[in-house]
Amino acid sequence: MKNAITTLFLYSTLLVTGAAFAQGTPLGKSPAPATKSGEAVYKETCAACHATGLLKAPKYGDKKDWGPLIKEPQAALTADAWVGVRDMPPKGGKPDIALEEFSRAVAYMARAAGATWKDPDAAMMKQIQTAEKNALDKKAKESKAQK
Ligand code: HEC
Repeated sequence: MKNAITTLFLYSTLLVTGAAFAQGTPLGKSPAPATKSGEAVYKETCAACHATGLLKAPKYGDKKDWGPLIKEPQAALTADAWVGVRDMPPKGGKPDIALEEFSRAVAYMARAAGATWKDPDAAMMKQIQTAEKNALDKKAKESKAQK
């Protein structure tokens, strides 16, 4: 009898845990809300290359590496990086990252090199989205030219 109760208890625990897990699983349809700070995204995703300059990534805090980049408009540089540039993978290699979070990470790295770029507001996000189209066109042309 005691065994049966224990078994029953274990089963119900498993069921409850299972249900909670299923509820917490994202359905993959709506994008995750952009809640992470630029610093958090940088540490989680970008630092892997940008902290050390791996693959010749512009190094975090290096004014020489970032100087020419932060002379570009914020929207253009963000969009170019977002779609990928040579060894810089699109979205920093993290397919589920939100554009807004990515953009904050770019601004965070730019600030470390002396830029005054703010975390993008709604108007800047619009500019980045427009720039994304141009960046994709540019990339498509480049890959054609290489063939
Ligand atoms: C796998 C390594 C890697 C990761 C991870 C990575 N980057 Fe990069 N990134 C690079 C490399 C390499 C370049 C230099 C590309 C070039 O100019 O050839 C670069 C360049 C850039 C540039 C300059 C783009 C330009 O137009 O020259 C920005 C901005 C940037 N990365 C942002 C980010 C952000 C934000 C993240 C994190 C969300 C990130 N990167 C994650 C490797 C990486």
